[in-house]
This record gives sequence, structure tokens and C-alpha cells, in this order.
Amino acid sequence: MTVGEVVRTSAEFLAAKGVPSPRVDAEHLVARGLGLSRLDLYLEYDRPLTGPELAACRELVRRRGTREPLAYVLGEWGFRRLVLAVDRRALVPRPETEVVVERCLALLGTVDEPRALDVGVGSGAIALAIADEHPGARVVGIDSSADALALAGENAERTGLADRVSLLRQDLVHGLPAGPFDLVVSNPPYVEPDEVGSLPPEVRDWEPRAALVGSGATEAVARGARRVLRAGGWLVLEVADGTAEAVSGLLASLGFADVARTRDLAGCERVVEGRWPG
Ligand SMILES: C[S@@+](CC[C@H](N)C(=O)[O-])C[C@H]1O[C@@H](n2cnc3c(N)ncnc32)[C@H](O)[C@@H]1O
Repeated sequence: MTVGEVVRTSAEFLAAKGVPSPRVDAEHLVARGLGLSRLDLYLEYDRPLTGPELAACRELVRRRGTREPLAYVLGEWGFRRLVLAVDRRALVPRPETEVVVERCLALLGTVDEPRALDVGVGSGAIALAIADEHPGARVVGIDSSADALALAGENAERTGLADRVSLLRQDLVHGLPAGPFDLVVSNPPYVEPDEVGSLPPEVRDWEPRAALVGSGATEAVARGARRVLRAGGWLVLEVADGTAEAVSGLLASLGFADVARTRDLAGCERVVEGRWPG
């Protein structure tokens, strides 16, 4: 089989398995199996594959056919300027979370050496991106999951940011680490337990349940942030689609000022921020 034929038959296989973007995924997987970029794939379109190359591609495509997330099959995923290791230990970083980082960087812009706290650090995506894009920032990331923290630690080493990002195993129900912080940011678990069944298989069957489901986590982060933010410090939260108004009301009722919402690239309000007046 040629490269082109493998891409085509892989896309057909993935489509039959209900994968939402079968052609793009097939290109990513065959490129990975051959050690090529997606562009190179097209430069080698008519080249026949060797037996071991075909076996490598088939194994990756088979995994995706079980609805394992593309990011887990590839083993790494882009987030802002970083390429992070990703696997079942933590949530796959999402595009809307890049907007969370955008807001954090905008709010920290004038602070030379800000201290930030990322609650529910997962793969390390938010904490590491802030450290990467604000050279003076020091970030503490906490998570209740030892698995997620191990992955975040690997990503801190991989990105060369380990000296400015500290990771702690801590459950937010026991409070947040002592501040004062200039910023508390969180993408907390916000799926309601009765919504889990309606999630796509990639999320429902593969991503850690503790990263998804967490009734009350958003409120717990907001309440805890009041005790560890410096006067004038900011809280930035990623919220579920359709809940930005309610979370804005929550922040206002807890005493946060300048409460504002930001839309993601799809036009949904997914980020809520507020300033702690002290
Ligand atoms: C939605 S994931 C976010 C991961 C990462 N920050 C990101 O944006 O991709 C939520 C994270 O919060 C962690 N978590 C859930 N409940 C927690 C709790 N009670 N205390 C601390 N971390 C918690 C989960 O283990 C998970 O890593």
C-alpha cells in the first residue's frame, strides 16, 4: 500500500467507528507512524510502505478506532507555545483553556514578578504556559491527583520551566496554599454527574473522571481564592458553556470587583474573571 492509500483506508475505518474528523485524524496518525509531518505525508503520497511502517500505522489507527482521544494516541499535544506530553493521567488541554491563559497574561501584564496559583493543574498546561509567556512569573500548581501531578512534573522538565513552577499534591477542600498570590487561576472540573452519559466517548471513557466531574469545585476555588489573593489580585476561572452568567453572579456575591466574561474562539462565554479588592 502507498502512503496515500493508507491515509484513505484509515480515514474510512475511523469514519466507520464514528470518529468526528476521520480524515484529519488519519493524517496525524499515519504521519506519526511514519515519523513525518503532515505536509511530508503529501510529498511521499505515492511511496509504498514497508511492512513495519504499515504495522506501526495500523496500531495507531486501531487505537483511535476505539475512540481513544487523538492526543493520547499521539502522546503529545500543542498548547499555546508548548508541546506537552499527554496521556490518561490528565485531561487533554483544550483550545478554550488557551483563552484562560490569554486573560491571565493580560491581567498580570504590569506585574514584574507575579506569583500565580493554578488550582487543578492537570497536565500543567495553564501553569506552564503562564511561566513560559511571562518570564518573571512563579507559579504554584496543585492537584488532588498524584497521576496528574506526575505528568505535570514531566511536562515541567520537558519544557525547561521546572525552576519556576512548583507542584503540590493538595485537595482544594482542605484550602489553598498560603499566598499572597497576584493571580489564582483554575479550570476546575465542572461537568455535572448526570451529564457524563451524554459526553463523547473520547471524554466519557478515557479522560480522568476527577478532571471532569466536580460539583461545587468552581465555588470552592472562588471562596478559597479570597483568602490567598493579595488586595487587587485576580481570579480567572474557566466555566462550563452556559454558566458564565451564574458564575459572574457568584463572584460578585463573594465580593469580587470588576467581574467580566470572555468568549472563546467559538463565541461562547467560557472565562470569568474578578478582582479581589482586599
Ligand atoms: C478540568 S481538569 C484541568 C486540568 C488543566 N488545568 C487543564 O486546564 O487542562 C481539572 C483538574 O482538577 C483536579 N481536581 C479535581 N478535583 C480537585 C480537588 N478537589 N482538589 C484539587 N484538584 C482537583 C483534577 O485532578 C484535574 O487535574
